Amino acid sequence: MERTHPHLCKPLTVGKVTFRNRMMSAPLGATDITAEGSPGSRTQGFYELRARGGAAAVTVSELVVHPETDGSQMLKLSLLNRGQLGAFTYVADAIKRHGAVPSVELSHSGQYAGTYMVDKKGKQTLGQFGPSDSMRPDGLPVKALTTAQIAVIIEAYGEAAGLAKRAGFEMVMVHAGHSWLLNQFISPYFNKREDEYGGSFENRIRLAREVLTSVRAAVGAGFPLELRVSGSELFEGGYDLDEGCRLAHALEDLVDLIHVSAGSYQYGFSIISMTQKEPSPLCSPTAV
Ligand SMILES: Cc1cc2nc3c(=O)[nH]c(=O)nc-3n(C[C@H](O)[C@H](O)[C@H](O)COP(=O)(O)O)c2cc1C
Repeated sequence: MERTHPHLCKPLTVGKVTFRNRMMSAPLGATDITAEGSPGSRTQGFYELRARGGAAAVTVSELVVHPETDGSQMLKLSLLNRGQLGAFTYVADAIKRHGAVPSVELSHSGQYAGTYMVDKKGKQTLGQFGPSDSMRPDGLPVKALTTAQIAVIIEAYGEAAGLAKRAGFEMVMVHAGHSWLLNQFISPYFNKREDEYGGSFENRIRLAREVLTSVRAAVGAGFPLELRVSGSELFEGGYDLDEGCRLAHALEDLVDLIHVSAGSYQYGFSIISMTQKEPSPLCSPTAV
């Protein structure tokens, strides 16, 4: 290991944060999420174990930034729910006390949101929100987000990042892979918009750039901001590895770290992988 990855066990400083090595625990779904979206004790223990195991950073799984347009039963963080900030503080503390950096993944599921959205009378709403009007494989309709809704979601990313920092997290990850909302906008397969958020590559990455800018404004300089992207969507009609490399280059000025996984929810989680199956000369990973 020492020979093939000479820097793997060496500390790394990113902004104001020093990591004890270069092995980071990728986000893995939380288990006992309370009804209002707080992490329960098993979730806390799960992430604490990863810190005890020696990871330099432990990334808490998907925190839904805008429950009003994302009805997924995942973690949520709002000052409106009493005690929620405290629950996240316990998780950050549990990771920190073993010498790891606590990070949290900010996410919006977009058109693949769960089906828990209800109206004021408790009735399930008709559909999910995505870049364009369409139909999901399970037959649920998808409504295109308006530009006003997009603006609110961008702001919500910043608010969630600021609250995570307040809870003691020392790093955040923005999830732009796996067919979630930001990926849906980036992908020519999902994004059929004709406004400034669709069409050209520059337009399709606009939402990701605006979200990253919003998050940076909330956490400030020196706070590590990690971006997770699918290097390739790995399905026909999705973007390929060359476009994935172009994407990384187009967003790198806004982030400190780029975390590359691969695959898509479009054909199930089974193909979401960290393995680069087709190495491209365009993407030569720097030695870790
Ligand atoms: C049970 C489980 C839960 C996961 N939860 C998340 C998640 O919340 N967010 C995310 O970005 N990836 C999630 N992933 C994907 C992992 O972070 C990782 O990319 C995947 O396990 C592939 O890594 P590997 O090839 O090393 O196994 C999850 C994977 C598994 C198996």
